[in-house]
Amino acid sequence: MMIDLRSDTVTKPSAQMRKAMAEAEVGDDVYGEDPTVNLLQERAAEMFGKEAALFLPTGSMGNQIAIKLHTRVGDEIIIEERGHIFNYEMGAPSAVAGVMIRVVRAANENAMLTWAEIESALHINLPYYACPTGLICLENTHNFGGGSVMSAEQTGEICHKAHDLNLPVHLDGARIFNAAVAQNDTVENLSRDCDSVQFCLSKGLGAPIGSMLLGKKDFIEEARVWRKRLGGGMRQVGILAAAGLIALEESPKRLHVDHENARLLAEGAANLKGVSIDAERVQTNIVIFDVSQTGKTSLQIVAELKERGILAISFGNSIRMVTHCDVSREAIETTLENLRSII
Ligand SMILES: Cc1ncc(COP(=O)(O)O)c(C=O)c1O
Repeated sequence: MMIDLRSDTVTKPSAQMRKAMAEAEVGDDVYGEDPTVNLLQERAAEMFGKEAALFLPTGSMGNQIAIKLHTRVGDEIIIEERGHIFNYEMGAPSAVAGVMIRVVRAANENAMLTWAEIESALHINLPYYACPTGLICLENTHNFGGGSVMSAEQTGEICHKAHDLNLPVHLDGARIFNAAVAQNDTVENLSRDCDSVQFCLSKGLGAPIGSMLLGKKDFIEEARVWRKRLGGGMRQVGILAAAGLIALEESPKRLHVDHENARLLAEGAANLKGVSIDAERVQTNIVIFDVSQTGKTSLQIVAELKERGILAISFGNSIRMVTHCDVSREAIETTLENLRSII
């Protein structure tokens, strides 16, 4: 058995999910006739306090449709430099929406932008030949900020200031349930003032496939058109929505376990010679630590871990490990023992 800490996307559907999938009532969702998809969309909208929701194959599609709908060709969108939309969506904002990205590096290690940082990068009320800002994108939790969280107050402040300037805000909330659990808050509060939010059923929530895009009714109706245009109109997809419903209702209740395991991993790693990580900063399920002073490269360490049946991701001088429902506390202890012996 491998211990797979590469991402929370690697989780396998639970027995409860597989049973629900086998028994799901289905219909053609392109005609809006899949009762299980409709139920999932209603439940998600209710939980987030938004007018409507749309089931999508991936989080990337949700982000890209939102960018397309909020902007005009030639606009600029603002995103933190380490953000997923900028680094890992294959230039889709330019390919799909025809927009430019202006990245802003947050001063803090958590990669969470403040309004002051955003404001300094805005292009508004400039002569017509300037590239206008059309959208601000936030990410909560922030993946490469180490699973860091943004509070409802911070998000609200950015949204209010942006709205004063007629700028919409999209939230990439791929892991927003982790952010909610870590702060003992609700996903509704954390996304209240955002014009749209995307979250993934297929990450910490453990569903095999699927993401949701939420916003106003008209926005979601337009999003439905773009989902089909991009090839994401699925048919008897209630089979997947059935797993998504369980992910939505059940999985948030156990996310604190992943966060405890991540903290245990971070504290153990912090004690290893040459490893640098501030365990106090680990708030959710993502642990990123620097190994540049260990005498081995991150690639070497990841390769040696793999030989011992442990999977992780290296980038630059760092290693990323992500806890999830298929990783137990014992697996974390085993990982730490192996890290200790390798390093
Ligand atoms: C923060 C964030 N946003 C969006 C995505 C994209 O999700 P998907 O892989 O479903 O396209 C990911 C995936 O890892 C992510 O970490």
